[in-house]
Amino acid sequence: MNPRRGAILREMGLTPVWRRRGPAPSAGDADPPRRIETGPTDARGVDAGPAMATGEEMDRAALIARMDWQQLRDGVSGCRACRLCERRKQAVLGVGDLEPQVLFVGEGPGAEEDERGEPFVGQAGKLLDAMLGSIGLARGKGVYIANTVKCRPPENRTPQADEMAACFPFLRRQIALLRPKLMVALGRPAAQALLDTEVKIGAARGREFAYDGIPLLVTYHPAYLLRNLPDKARAWEDLCLIRRLLAGDDPATGAD
Ligand code: URA
Repeated sequence: MNPRRGAILREMGLTPVWRRRGPAPSAGDADPPRRIETGPTDARGVDAGPAMATGEEMDRAALIARMDWQQLRDGVSGCRACRLCERRKQAVLGVGDLEPQVLFVGEGPGAEEDERGEPFVGQAGKLLDAMLGSIGLARGKGVYIANTVKCRPPENRTPQADEMAACFPFLRRQIALLRPKLMVALGRPAAQALLDTEVKIGAARGREFAYDGIPLLVTYHPAYLLRNLPDKARAWEDLCLIRRLLAGDDPATGAD
């Protein structure tokens, strides 16, 4: 490994650096070179893109694609792959059942999550817990909760596309380790990260997508529901669909 690459991996919290033994990860193990679309020049005046994934990014993705849970925890907590690391108190990997029926994916930690190191523990989290309870689920009981980005975006702004792209290998590895029966994207950033395309929640909810062979639903983010009470009725329909899919019912007919 050349010294520059080693320094970059150390900087990203990906040391010790493992040397490849045996075959390289297959295309299915590692992230394909994702096109990283970025917003405007960031606050530090660094022009972040647009750019294709570099060799270093592909190396990093391949390393993450082989991590176990402990390596993921260490990799996430030491990650410096994007600007969100600069103002976090701690990175937030996720919480819950490691053999979940359903994986919920939110946007990113807020202030309370940044403080406590657990996703969805603030107001939106209370609503999410109530939503789970309404269909007989609970955090940690058949449920795992993760976020699209693991570090709090300043002032709770929406994560930028390059930040989501930098964090995506961690989510991808979580999904590969968890292999839930169903995934639910909470809000637009999560849906877009998982579907790798523009998404409008109003149009996408109620439809069944797939991520790597796992059924994927899209619904409103609980924080949005706190501000838009009329959409709670639609969210309830989405919860009923989650319940039907988990029960193995045909969503089209409501029957087995
Ligand atoms: N909103 C999110 O998307 N995730 C959290 O963990 C908290 C609030």
